[in-house]
Amino acid sequence: MHLISSSTIFLHFLTLLGLGALVSGLGSQCSAPVTSGTAAPSAPFWMEQIQHQGSAPFNSNPGGYQVFRNVKDFGAKGDGVTDDTAAINAAISSGNRCGNGCGQSTISPAVVYFPQGTYLVSTPIVSYFYTQLIGDAKHMPSLVANPNFQGIAVIDADPGWYVNQNNFYHSIRNFHIDVSRMPTGASATGIHWQVSQATSLINIVFQMSTAAGNAHQGIWMENGSGGFMGDLVFNGGKFGMWVGNQQFTVRNITVNNANTAHSSIQQVYGLWNWGWTFQGVTINNCQVGFDLATGGTTQDNQGVQGEAIIDAVVTNTPIFVRSSQPSNGALRGSLVLNNIKLNNVPTAVGVVGGAVVLNGGTTTINSWAQGNVYTGTNANGRFIQSNIAAINKAGSLLDSSGRIFGKTHPQYANYAPGQFISVKSQGAKGDGQTDDTAAIQAVFDKFAGCRVIFFDAGVYVVTNTITIPAGTQVVGEAWSTILGTGNAFFDYNNPKPVIQAGTSGSQGVLEISDMIFSTRGPTAGAIVLEWNVHDPAGQQGAAGTWDTHIILGGKIGTNLQANNCPTSGSGGNNCFAAFLALHLTPSSSAYLEGLWVWTADHDLDQGPQVDIYTGRGIMSESQGPVWMIGTASEHNILYQYSLVNAQNHYMGLIQTETPYFQPNPVPPAPFIPNAAYKDPSLGPGAAWALAVSNSQVILVFGAGLYSFFQNYGQACLNTFNCQQQIVNIDSGSTVAIYSLSTVASQYQISVNGQGIVPNSANRAGFAQTVTSWTRS
Ligand SMILES: *[C@@H]1O[C@H](CO)[C@@H](O)[C@H](O)[C@H]1NC(C)=O
Ligand SMILES: *[C@@H]1O[C@H](CO)[C@@H](O)[C@H](O)[C@H]1NC(C)=O
Repeated sequence: MHLISSSTIFLHFLTLLGLGALVSGLGSQCSAPVTSGTAAPSAPFWMEQIQHQGSAPFNSNPGGYQVFRNVKDFGAKGDGVTDDTAAINAAISSGNRCGNGCGQSTISPAVVYFPQGTYLVSTPIVSYFYTQLIGDAKHMPSLVANPNFQGIAVIDADPGWYVNQNNFYHSIRNFHIDVSRMPTGASATGIHWQVSQATSLINIVFQMSTAAGNAHQGIWMENGSGGFMGDLVFNGGKFGMWVGNQQFTVRNITVNNANTAHSSIQQVYGLWNWGWTFQGVTINNCQVGFDLATGGTTQDNQGVQGEAIIDAVVTNTPIFVRSSQPSNGALRGSLVLNNIKLNNVPTAVGVVGGAVVLNGGTTTINSWAQGNVYTGTNANGRFIQSNIAAINKAGSLLDSSGRIFGKTHPQYANYAPGQFISVKSQGAKGDGQTDDTAAIQAVFDKFAGCRVIFFDAGVYVVTNTITIPAGTQVVGEAWSTILGTGNAFFDYNNPKPVIQAGTSGSQGVLEISDMIFSTRGPTAGAIVLEWNVHDPAGQQGAAGTWDTHIILGGKIGTNLQANNCPTSGSGGNNCFAAFLALHLTPSSSAYLEGLWVWTADHDLDQGPQVDIYTGRGIMSESQGPVWMIGTASEHNILYQYSLVNAQNHYMGLIQTETPYFQPNPVPPAPFIPNAAYKDPSLGPGAAWALAVSNSQVILVFGAGLYSFFQNYGQACLNTFNCQQQIVNIDSGSTVAIYSLSTVASQYQISVNGQGIVPNSANRAGFAQTVTSWTRS
């Protein structure tokens, strides 16, 4: 912890007075975080007012391509009277972006910005691939559906143009979406959100009809492979959310449903709902809270294979959770409830037709589970529908009311434009070619703590470690990308961080949002993000990342593409992307929300599958608190998540995939083990999804850990054995795992390298689901 000198306090005071320019020449003396905004209440959101210098260097028209688009510049009026549909869609689509027929691409990112106003629309606003739709965070704009609105939803993230499991890079923030003027019988919908990883919905209020019998809904999602959403409010409607997806994490939602005939969350497509984690749910005046009813398939008695709900308050709602049929032992319908407060909720868990599984009332459910539970090294599960031992959570993870702490994506709503500093204004090019190492490091050295560091959209090449000091706030634009490359990151015997967030032992605020960290290969020695910083005492979640991803290969500019890294493996050593993607070091804490570590399995610009090698995914040695809320780690060689000597983690939900080429080669090939990085012992022939060694008070609340291939073949899906083991816990760790869905790993849990829980006992649709595994 550093001492704050009186001169620093004085300089900080000048910054708050808007005199930051005086500070800028004074270098690293400026080290106190900018802690509050200075914008006048009536002033527009800073994003509207800053100079817009974002670029897309790999676009076919890099000079002319516009990343930032203000819908008013495209003719939208926002006056509540004019039909703004065409203008908004022009703002999104202009510049030959990735729309119908494109499928996927990384060369045309866009931020589409909506100033304060009321925007009337009559057909869907189509959110293209790689788009952030952002409203004024200070004065949230309204998107209002005309009474005669035609189409699937006010915002449509996929009009059938994208592959549902590959519909990456969408974010929507700061809107009031109103469909209440539409006829009550219309299935008026706020957002059609058929999306995958690197997607988020943040800070949105949905207004639907409150008339009896209306058919309105807030979110409609039939499938995909997400994702994170949070800070959502649903008012009225038939359904707040009607959602199906392989996996999703939802934090902080409120459903106020005046129409008492209806349910807040409807999840029906059992085949495509493998695992959902809901954290922080408020339900008022609904008929059913979670309606997990069969719809899409006939084989399921519950619409979600693994449903996990933590920290809910439910009021004046007859049924909290309902399924189509009673759960039947070995088969379907895993449900975990933790810290659920019921106020006048007669049935906590029920079945369509009226059977009651768990009585409600006005009461608190501490910890309750339905499904197959396992302990220790006992291979035999027990089917239960009962209270379970209280779920153990480290106190440092909880907020003052005892819930898992959550922190909204920082948007600096009340900050004035002068409180930001653009890296391009300071000489960084972000053109995908120029070595920006010195320019970027200089910005951090000079402005960390004095200004929010703004990375204008672009691709910033760096050839040596960039150190971000504690006390820094970093904001990207449509996932501004830092690309580490060169000799510094070449040698897997001498790995080196590309980005070093804080230094060992440092404490302070460190917020990073809307960035991508990446490499240009071959970079076998890159530790893409080394995270060292710790929250100051009393400031939970001060150090974290939001909508920030580590993306390795599979896109233009990385030298790790389908043409040079084909699935034959003939790219060899040229296809090393990184040694380790994310390292949480022992003295760090971390709040990670909406984080995707993706070593590409296919090329987003060229199309085909690729053989790209990243040694390790996420390694944590942190003593906590660590919150991993909606994180994923995919296709890394040794492991996706490894916890070594770690403590006090909340992980919900985590998602992984094993590399599609394994066991060709068998891990650790093409890497070698590295004792300094405490690699876990090797699984038989494939990466660990999760390896835990000598770690205490680790709570996994929802996991989707998948093995879909063997050497690119999928026959093993039919025999449920694409790999033998996938989760390993050593006997020195205290870990509890709830709502674990795996795909095609013969054993779902191993202890000390020995397979314990066979998937044969837990098959339920496509995934295999264990309701809980605890030490004892
Ligand atoms: C996903 O949903 C779409 C409907 O939008 C459907 O056409 C498609 O078959 C579904 N995909 C899968 C894999 O179920
Ligand atoms: C939850 O979301 C609401 C609505 O966006 C917001 O006002 C509130 O601050 C959020 N709470 C947390 C803990 O994030």
